Amino acid sequence: MPNTAAKPIYFDSACAEAFATRIMDMVDQGAAAVMISVGHRLGLFTTLAEQAPATSAEIAARAGLAERYVREWLAAMVSAEIVRYEPGNRTYWLPAEHAAALTPGGAMGNLAVYGQHVALLGEVQERLLSLFREGGGTSYADYPCFHQIMAEDSGQSVISQLFEHVLPLVPGIDRRLAAGIDVLDAGCGRGAALIAMAERYPASRFTGYDLGADAIEFAQGIAAERGLGNIRFELRDLTGFADRACFDFITTFDAVHDQKDPADFIRSLHGALRPGGVYLMQDIGGSAHLEKNSDFPMATMLYAVSCAHCTPISIGQGGAGLGTMWGWETAERMLQDAGFRDIAMHRLPHDPMNVWFVSEKTS
Ligand SMILES: C[S@@+](CC[C@H](N)C(=O)[O-])C[C@H]1O[C@@H](n2cnc3c(N)ncnc32)[C@H](O)[C@@H]1O
Repeated sequence: MPNTAAKPIYFDSACAEAFATRIMDMVDQGAAAVMISVGHRLGLFTTLAEQAPATSAEIAARAGLAERYVREWLAAMVSAEIVRYEPGNRTYWLPAEHAAALTPGGAMGNLAVYGQHVALLGEVQERLLSLFREGGGTSYADYPCFHQIMAEDSGQSVISQLFEHVLPLVPGIDRRLAAGIDVLDAGCGRGAALIAMAERYPASRFTGYDLGADAIEFAQGIAAERGLGNIRFELRDLTGFADRACFDFITTFDAVHDQKDPADFIRSLHGALRPGGVYLMQDIGGSAHLEKNSDFPMATMLYAVSCAHCTPISIGQGGAGLGTMWGWETAERMLQDAGFRDIAMHRLPHDPMNVWFVSEKTS
């Protein structure tokens, strides 16, 4: 059958050219993001930040890396206007203002961490193509280094502000933690949030469950290294979690939307709280409505991560695949349906991608 759809009679060449330029820029920026990830993983931004202008040989020697690869990476970074280059003496340097956004502890946060998500997207492309063609889902094992990347991500959004901005969202929690309560972090990953709390509040008891064996092993190792006797990490699939009334404070950090059944998961957390207990949920703060997300920070990356990770992870567990951008509206409704009342929703300035819900179990 011929395509009878109406065709535009006017073709705006300037618009087409501008769009083509934009696509070329996007490809260029995407490549820069992958190279940012490479530089981050190899500690090259830190090496540059600690060094005066230096040649590729000097930078490679200091980083303990192969010069030829370092030189090519530097060329990509210079082209992306991240690193500066002096052709006279062939030296490279990272301006302090750029180091502030690309190194651990930088004043702008270490944004290089997020480049790893883009690199991971490329790594799973072949698997993703087969999911489009054949359906089905994935498991966490399909994503190399996932728990490490995620721990670095939440190191920015959660850990760096845990005591200053995150816990203060929960009225009275500092006092209760100091007095001694039972705390669960569900889907704790490598457990950094719990470890930080366990160190600060020795009278409280902390439990972390996760289905990632390598993440739990990592968390147990750190807890043992620090001699923490008030924390335990357990390998546990929380699908169908049915423990009742045994925690006073439950947290989930970015661990609900890719569950098999997020609504049931939230219901089970409500059941696991004692009356008067509090649930703190951090999750992606976009809207459930695509048209409302055009200005949402890093919306393209979040939808891409959703397509390549969060959606197939949920489908792989036999779930609905809500996706990363399930929306704060959906989260709020699920909290209400689970029985939570007086749900407070917060946004934190350091973390524009996430929304924070605080809800108490009243009965
Ligand atoms: C996006 S990661 C967040 C990890 C951690 N909370 C953080 O902020 O770094 C989601 C975590 O939930 C865990 N998870 C997902 N489904 C789970 C389930 N059914 N039971 C237990 N853990 C689960 C994953 O293994 C993963 O560590």
